[in-house]
Amino acid sequence: MAKATKTGQFIYIVQAILEPSKCKIGKTDNPERRLKEYNSITGKSKDNHYAYLFVAQVSDMAQMEKAITERFRILREEKSREIYFYNHELFRQYVDYIKKSPWFVQEVFIKQTAPKIITKIVKRTTPTLKERGLTRKELLQKAQKVDDDEFYTLYEDLEKEVACYDKRIWRNKVVFCNCDDPVGGDETRTSAFALYFINHFKDFGLKKLICTHYSGEVDLFNAGASGYIFTKYGFNELDVKKESPKGYTGAFEDPLSIKILNDEADIVCTNPPFSRAIDYWKLIIGSGKQFLIVSAITNSINTAFIPYFKNKTVWAGHNRIDHFLNPKRQLVEASGHWYCNLTIKNRAKLEHLKIIPLKDIPDAEKSYDDNKTLLVSNCYIPSDYKKPFAVSARPILNGVLECGYEIVADKRYTPYIDGKEKFARVLIQKA
Ligand SMILES: C[S@@+](CC[C@H](N)C(=O)[O-])C[C@H]1O[C@@H](n2cnc3c(N)ncnc32)[C@H](O)[C@@H]1O
Repeated sequence: MAKATKTGQFIYIVQAILEPSKCKIGKTDNPERRLKEYNSITGKSKDNHYAYLFVAQVSDMAQMEKAITERFRILREEKSREIYFYNHELFRQYVDYIKKSPWFVQEVFIKQTAPKIITKIVKRTTPTLKERGLTRKELLQKAQKVDDDEFYTLYEDLEKEVACYDKRIWRNKVVFCNCDDPVGGDETRTSAFALYFINHFKDFGLKKLICTHYSGEVDLFNAGASGYIFTKYGFNELDVKKESPKGYTGAFEDPLSIKILNDEADIVCTNPPFSRAIDYWKLIIGSGKQFLIVSAITNSINTAFIPYFKNKTVWAGHNRIDHFLNPKRQLVEASGHWYCNLTIKNRAKLEHLKIIPLKDIPDAEKSYDDNKTLLVSNCYIPSDYKKPFAVSARPILNGVLECGYEIVADKRYTPYIDGKEKFARVLIQKA
């Protein structure tokens, strides 16, 4: 640290190396001395030393510290005075806030973090379907085969979807993100759901945000916290030792997660692991809670999920999801969609449905299979056809079940034409 900035008024952000979910934000007139004090705290293990992430000289450290407390109240640990919740993005927000404040004089130190992901890179690094010589059908089939669950939702996809609902649905609600690590280790893995609800906590008037994440093993000692609770009074780690003495895995199906779901949650919002989608849907829908979740775009033509659409316990959200982040910080093509049981007003995609008399549907978009079942494509829907007919997932996602049509079979429908298997569909009929 430069000599001229050894003493004066400073605001700092410091972190203990073994506590990645927390940082301390405080004021001091001597940063060097303060760091020594942190590192000489009796009983602290040698490995768990503190290091500065950021130090800034300010003109009024008391005012600055007070302003930080007010601005980031929900991120302040409830029981302590200087501990704040930490992840890469929130660190950026803390630093930004300090630098834009009227008391900021100069930056003394900043730890370099990984550069922010620039989503525009997608266009250059992710080839289009045409460039890859793939049809959408082939892409969907490929996506269905993906068994790796480590794909992360983009913040902007969540932002775009939530913007389609009445903001008042969140007021005074407990939001439960049960597959979401709000810390993440690096910014790719930091849950966009956690960040989004932290950032909108006040604006939405949330009562509580609970984020739990899967650690892969039972955590008896709460060594790596698997859950965080945010309220207007601050944040707390889930007290696993007290709540789950036999150990907690952070899994959505862990008894403690199910208890939170049943006893506390009002709205569940996440992108759960694809490989566990069937169990996840069963649990969440069975809980009777409200939800807004991401799942495969083809669910409405898959036997495991069709009954939910048929019984109207689930319907499509507004948007599809075309990209996720992988753990290597790359954007990858995805075939996801939002699903929910929230009230949908003004579904924009109804406009894509072409509900017209059968005779007016172009021949290229209608055919009969070997069972003489009518197949219609490209969102053409016969307005005057009385028997069941087969459609792809798209009309379901575009809201055809809200237009006087219903699913009439519990299983997916696989058409054959001249003995050749065609793309799977679902049977619907005018009510
Ligand atoms: C598709 S990723 C999405 C992560 C995050 N929700 C997001 O949208 O960015 C699903 C996550 O669920 C985690 N996971 C796997 N099994 C789980 C379980 N049983 N309970 C909760 N999460 C699980 C995976 O490790 C993975 O990080």
